[in-house]
Amino acid sequence: MTESITITDNRTGNQLEIPIAHGGVSAAEWQKLLPGIWFYDPGLTTTAVCESTITFVDGENGVLRYRGYPIEELAEHSSYLEVAYLLLHGELPDAEQFDKWRHEVTMHTYIHENVRKRFLEGFHYDAHPMGMLVSAVAALSTFYLDAKDIFDLDLRAKQITRLIAKMPTLAAAAHRFSVGMPFVYPDNSLDFCANFLSMMWKVAEPRFDANPTLARALDILFILHADHEQNCSTTAMRVVGSSHADPYSCCAAACAALYGPRHGGANEEVIRMLTEIGSMDNVPAFVEEVKQGHGRLQGFGHRVYKNYDPRAKIIKRTADEVFAITGKNPLLDIALKLEDIALNDEYFTSRRLYPNVDFYSGLIYQAMGFPLEMFPVLFAIPRTSGWLAHWQELLDQDSKIVRPRQLFVGAEPRAYVPIDER
Ligand code: ACO
Repeated sequence: MTESITITDNRTGNQLEIPIAHGGVSAAEWQKLLPGIWFYDPGLTTTAVCESTITFVDGENGVLRYRGYPIEELAEHSSYLEVAYLLLHGELPDAEQFDKWRHEVTMHTYIHENVRKRFLEGFHYDAHPMGMLVSAVAALSTFYLDAKDIFDLDLRAKQITRLIAKMPTLAAAAHRFSVGMPFVYPDNSLDFCANFLSMMWKVAEPRFDANPTLARALDILFILHADHEQNCSTTAMRVVGSSHADPYSCCAAACAALYGPRHGGANEEVIRMLTEIGSMDNVPAFVEEVKQGHGRLQGFGHRVYKNYDPRAKIIKRTADEVFAITGKNPLLDIALKLEDIALNDEYFTSRRLYPNVDFYSGLIYQAMGFPLEMFPVLFAIPRTSGWLAHWQELLDQDSKIVRPRQLFVGAEPRAYVPIDER
């Protein structure tokens, strides 16, 4: 039997039965009975904006799967580049497809000299690297005019490769500029993460060989951050994409959404919060403050997960491997105590607030030497593959331009009053 709901318009008594499909009901059906009556849903908390085959999240049970593959298995056995292919193509690549994909990404890591010399170096010396990244990604659209041809599938694939390949180069360039270090060109003999670490940290050595454990840890973090269905930045990507803007402009919008402390800036906030707490003894008082409504426990809570974020579990394990190389981040003990107190406190348990992906990722990034300002940038690098997978899906769905409605609660019509009569 098909499941359905029946709605009644109490003004007229008219009724309409709407089938429930894939856990949702069609707003188009609703409109047949109630034209001009809108769903009031700020934050889109109960609205499904699309059908998608990319990522499955079950927030109640803490489940995350990309194209059907559990995140735990991908984090253990796969690599970021393979996951990016999976997100974009729907299937894992065979050996030949993967070699080709890796080769293409590697060959597109260079950025136009003008992007670096004239554009990035034009920023103020203390520019935030995420602000630089947002702008640089947008600027790329002026370098690749063929990007506007979004329905040419070969050109579309080319822009996707370019964006995934150039993100680490732009990210490292933004960092080097902000610390006054010379730009390091990509080393195409290195794999994706080792190359990024080389562009970040190389000084005078002929070749920078990243510690393999740290490169692998970064790869795992990139896998975990590659996609998360209709989050704020992916929604920005889809909204701008629905106007048929080029992918660089869409990605710049998504990057901008990721910049905010409620989204990609949260792990930076976690480190600031742990630093402010300062010692294990101060943790209980800090938790009390949060419960009194003074601020939030950063890295806790999630719109979708009402259980332990599965990515946080994997990150916690990865943190141990990283700290074995770098030495323990002194903030770790504060974080562990905070987690322990919160997970046993009625305020947090009744609201189902658990650590999210950002609670531990910042500790790892900091131990690896990344400055706080780079944290959202480190998020943007892998999330680019998720954004592009959604953008591609959107274009293939013949979707409408996104144009929501509002409930107008402003002034009634009134006559203009000249300034000297006000
Ligand atoms: N600390 C303390 N209380 C919290 C927290 C928190 N981190 N998060 C939510 N709450 C409380 C709210 O005060 C509210 O309580 P109330 O019902 O008594 O008013 C209740 O829990 C529900 O909170 P909402 O804000 O309605 O939850 P929402 O789903 O809108 O917010 C969000 C989700 C933005 C992630 C929120 O939990 C938060 O601000 N967390 C801290 C920032 C953070 O870690 N962001 C990273 C998210 S993951 C990511 O983007 C990759």
